[in-house]
Order: sequence, then C-alpha cells, then structure tokens
Amino acid sequence: MSQGLEQQAREQWKTRTGFMLASMGSAIGLGNIWKFPYITGENGGAAFIIVYLICIALIGIPIMLAEFAVGRNTQKDAVGSFRELTPGKPWFITGIFGVAAAFLILSFYGVVAGWALSYTTKAMSGDLLAIPADQMGDAFGGFIGNALSPILWQTLFMAIVIIVVVRGIKEGIEKWNKILMPTLAVLLVILVIRAVTLPGAGEGVSFLLSPDFSALNANAILVALGHAFFSLSLGMGTMITYGSYVPKNVNLPTAATGVSLADTGFALLAGLAIFPAVFAFGMDPGAGPGLIFVTLPAVFEMMPFGQFFSVLFFLLISMAALTSAISILEVPVAYFMRKFEWTRKKATWIIGTIIFLFGIPSSLSLGAWGGFTIFGLGFFDAVDYLASNILLPLGGLLTALFVGWALGKQKSLEIGGLSEASVWGKLWILSLRFVAPVLILLVMASVLGFLTF
Ligand code: PFF
Repeated sequence: MSQGLEQQAREQWKTRTGFMLASMGSAIGLGNIWKFPYITGENGGAAFIIVYLICIALIGIPIMLAEFAVGRNTQKDAVGSFRELTPGKPWFITGIFGVAAAFLILSFYGVVAGWALSYTTKAMSGDLLAIPADQMGDAFGGFIGNALSPILWQTLFMAIVIIVVVRGIKEGIEKWNKILMPTLAVLLVILVIRAVTLPGAGEGVSFLLSPDFSALNANAILVALGHAFFSLSLGMGTMITYGSYVPKNVNLPTAATGVSLADTGFALLAGLAIFPAVFAFGMDPGAGPGLIFVTLPAVFEMMPFGQFFSVLFFLLISMAALTSAISILEVPVAYFMRKFEWTRKKATWIIGTIIFLFGIPSSLSLGAWGGFTIFGLGFFDAVDYLASNILLPLGGLLTALFVGWALGKQKSLEIGGLSEASVWGKLWILSLRFVAPVLILLVMASVLGFLTF
C-alpha cells in the first residue's frame, strides 16, 4: 500500500526535452572543460581522442542505456532499483557504492567549482588579467592554498546547488537545466569562434585533428576509459536516478545515444576553444590540471578583448559544474527520501551540508593541511582517486554485469526498449556481458597496480 502511494507521488520530468537537457547537464561538466582538455594535452592530442571516442561507443553508451533502463523500469533511486529487480540478492550494494561515490565526488567537485566561481568574479573585476602572465601559476597556487577564501566560494556554490535541488525535479532541476544548457552551448560556440579565428590557431586545430599514434601508450588508453565514465556520469547511479523520473513513452536507446553524443561533442568543442588559443600564443598544451586556471588566463591576457572572453569562459565552467553537481546531489537525496521517508527539503539540506563539510578538508589539503596524506596522497587527491578510479568503474562494472547477466536477456532487452532480433539489441547485450566488464577490469587492475605498462 505504502509502495503504491509512493509510486503515485513520484516526481516526473515535465517534458522529454527537459529530461534530455538535465541528463546532458549532468554529463557536461568540469570533466569536459577542465579535465578532458588537459588529459588530451598530456596524452598527445588526436590519437587519444580517437581512443576516447571508441570507449564512449563501446562502453559508455551501452552502460548509460543500462542505467536509464533500470531507473525507468523501477521508478526508484539507485539502491531501491536494484532491490526491486533482484529482491534478497546483494546487487543493491552497487547502489550503495553509488551513494558513497556521490558524497565523495561532490565534496571535491564543489571545491573546484568554487575556484571557477571565484575566477569568474576575478575576471569580471579585471583583477585576474592584471596578474603578470609569468605569475599566474603562483597566483593560482596562492589562492587554492589559502585557508579561507576557497572555502567561502565552495560554500556559495554548494548553497546554489542545494537551493536548486530543494525545488524538486520539474521546478528545480529541469527548469534550471532548460535555462543553463542552451546558454552554455551559446557561450561555447562564441569561444570556439574566437579561438579558431586567432592568427596561428591552425597548429592547435591540427593538434586535435591529426593523430600521432606514436604518442599513444597503454596508460593513455586506460585514462581514456576512466574518463569516459566520469564524463558520462556513469557508475554512480546518477543516470538510474534521472531515469527513474522518465515517463514510459520516452525511447531510451535514442536518449542514451543523444546524451553521449552531446557530451562528447561538448568536450571536443571545449578542446577547440582552448588548444588553438594555447598554440596561437605559444603556450604549453600539456600543462596538466592548471591548464584552465593558469595557462588560459595568460592566453586571455594576450588576446584582443581578452577580459570579455575570460568572463565568458569562467562563467561557462561555473554553469557546467552547477548542472553536474545538481545531478550528483540528487543521487543521495532520492535515496534518503525513500529510505527514511524524509521530505525533499530535509534530505537536500542535511546531505548537502554534510557533503559541503566533507569538502573542507579537501580544500585545506591543498594548502594549510598540505602535510597530511593518506597512502601518499593529499586528502583532495585521495578522495578523487578513490571515487573516480575505484568506485565509479566498480559501479559501472556491477551495473553492466547486473543488466547483462543477472536480469536475464529477455528482461534486459524489454526494459532497455530493444529487440533481440535487432543488431543494436545484440550489440548492447554483447557489450554489457563481455566488452565492458573485460575492459573495466583491465582499467581497475592497472589503477590498483596489478598491471603495469
Ligand atoms: N559528468 C560530470 C563531468 O564530466 O564533470 C561529473 C559527474 C557527474 C561524474 C555525475 C559522475 C556523476 F555521477
């Protein structure tokens, strides 16, 4: 009885477009604009991109469809879905990993997003571009190492995330994604046009488009696969949770393909907004995590109308981070609402605050608490490592095995909206049963040090 009531009361997306934009909003985030460009830079450019595209097609899209299908079929959160489909079996632990990963990822995601917010205001006021180019690295190090300021920005960012999620699926998450996602696309296109029309941009474009396979090693392949997970928001129950608000008439294979293509297109365009500009001004494309906070501000300094474009760029990152952070918070919120019968308001404020507090040591570990390490990593890096390299691939592996094997082929094809006779149905099952598990296991073995190249 209470289950019946709960199902009746479950929120749903207002429109199919709203669902697509929210899922794209989840996928498109810091992973696309901050991480993808720098790992591409570090791993040799175009050849790395080709491997990344293969990972998206062979593993990313099939697992995203698996997540949507599980969520839509059960209309439950990440833990409840597994319980409902296989009662009495331990598969629900997959969802528990997801909820745990959400706590960890959002804690440091909020820290980096806070940096982006702060850089947006520094860009607006002109302070950012007043810093001499050769001191940009020190300025960034000084800012993130400061005990107070980054935490204040993180507080502001997390407060905005909480306020959106409190308002619910239609009025909060869907509404904000409908505004932010189209804006994001427009900002990115403006930045790409600016970058590719700079004199000397051609070298950066060919860095992205002409593959040099000699630069590719086994480690780069593993980085590409790990990033495909992070970028598509997989392995954490996010797409299960978003899928659980999807009406029955939406075609899930099309949705999973569309969201994955949009995410990949966005990452490529972010590369096209960044590398031509980096090359045009003779900067280093392999600068690592500091690429957008150190190299790019120096690039904006040399560019005509650089201040205007720097504001657009940091605004772009902040907004992209917001739509992803919202989706991460929704995973534990949906779980706690069902499990403990909390209201959305109570669940969002309590969990959001705990995650915020957990982010503080991450922020401090980059400065004041720099000496404190776990297995040789600072707190920030340890949390990132545990969540991104262990929990997400593990969640993805278990989800693939669950839908590929545990549910039974007929049931899986039925909830995924594919037929056994179709090529896509066959390929989907093949990926979930063999391709994805084998490749994910290889990545995990290498991350944990069992495999070295
Ligand atoms: N996909 C987001 C990004 O690329 O920044 C990050 C993310 C969101 C990861 C949601 C995992 C997740 F469940």
